[in-house]
Amino acid sequence: MTISDLETPALLIDLDVMEGNLKKLADYSQKHRLRVRPHTKTHKIPALARKQLDLGAAGLTVAKVGEAEVMLAAQPPDVLVAYPIVGRRKLERLMQVAAKTSITVSLDSVVVAQQLSEAATASGIEIGVLAEVDVGLGRVGVPPGETLLRLIQDIQRLPGLRLDGIAFYPGQIKSLDEEGEQALKSLAQMLERILDDLRKTGIEARIVSGGSTPTLFHSHRLPGLNEIRPGTYIFNDRNTVLSGACTFEECAASVMVTVVSTAKPGQMIVDGGSKTFSSDGAAAGAPVSFGRVLQAPDAVFTKMNEEHGFIDLRRAGQKFNVGDRVRIIPNHVCVAMNLHECVYGIRGDTVEQTWRVEGRGKLQ
Ligand SMILES: Cc1ncc(COP(=O)(O)O)c(C=O)c1O
Repeated sequence: MTISDLETPALLIDLDVMEGNLKKLADYSQKHRLRVRPHTKTHKIPALARKQLDLGAAGLTVAKVGEAEVMLAAQPPDVLVAYPIVGRRKLERLMQVAAKTSITVSLDSVVVAQQLSEAATASGIEIGVLAEVDVGLGRVGVPPGETLLRLIQDIQRLPGLRLDGIAFYPGQIKSLDEEGEQALKSLAQMLERILDDLRKTGIEARIVSGGSTPTLFHSHRLPGLNEIRPGTYIFNDRNTVLSGACTFEECAASVMVTVVSTAKPGQMIVDGGSKTFSSDGAAAGAPVSFGRVLQAPDAVFTKMNEEHGFIDLRRAGQKFNVGDRVRIIPNHVCVAMNLHECVYGIRGDTVEQTWRVEGRGKLQ
């Protein structure tokens, strides 16, 4: 089968590029002795998680219990649920997963730790815990200092839980321009202070888990960091390019769409809109566009309805006809993946693989 046999819209994964991205991380993490638990929220496909494990990943990361259930198919030795899991039913399901593989949860409150401890004790399974610390994103995580130390001591007192270390997510560093460089340096200093505090209090953080794609290949510059959880790196996307962390040639995922209307001069409408690409905009300060048209890089993907993509061709220097197909690199590939039932692994024009996106829609 070739890509011309596929119906559109179709999300294509260029296998050569994806394999290059996987290898680049495997080489980097090996060189710097960093443990990797890739975040599977990007691809949501157990077969790809298996590839990551085969390339040296120590385990997998998920955000949802439903994702952990799906990822059991990859037979991971270990799964990190990098999200506070709240509620009895979810915790019961998590314990069923924990009966099949080792589970660690990152959390930032005694309430969540207490619930987890009760579920763990009831099922007789020990659960690893990473205390989440906020390093500037202001999302989850307690502030460094006294509050973090108290959270850790509370976790250590709870039965059924094993304190493994700390976790943080530096999602506020979107690029390594001058400002980003400064933020990375401040993060390194903050981390040194945190680990110093822990040492002085006699707390052993066996795992210091961080890492996101924009700062991925600078992880070795963070003293004490020994685990990374990158997600987007496997495919990359337009926002990763805009962050300066990769080139368009390193973007493995594109959505193939068909031109369905050219009725308005200077514009084409393609058969993919917000239900195909997601409405994620470009990174702050970047030109407004919902993706990059590979065949016409100067075209601007200005607007989306659910099923219509509006592409402004006035500066593209190219014309397209109804029935033409173009490929578009999405702004945010993780959310785009969540919208597709199947995706296609291609090499050149040949479709080598069809994968069901088994983790899509696993919101619970
Ligand atoms: C807690 C956590 N860890 C890791 C990641 C992976 O980040 P990235 O996709 O930038 O590699 C995310 C992404 O949202 C996250 O929320």
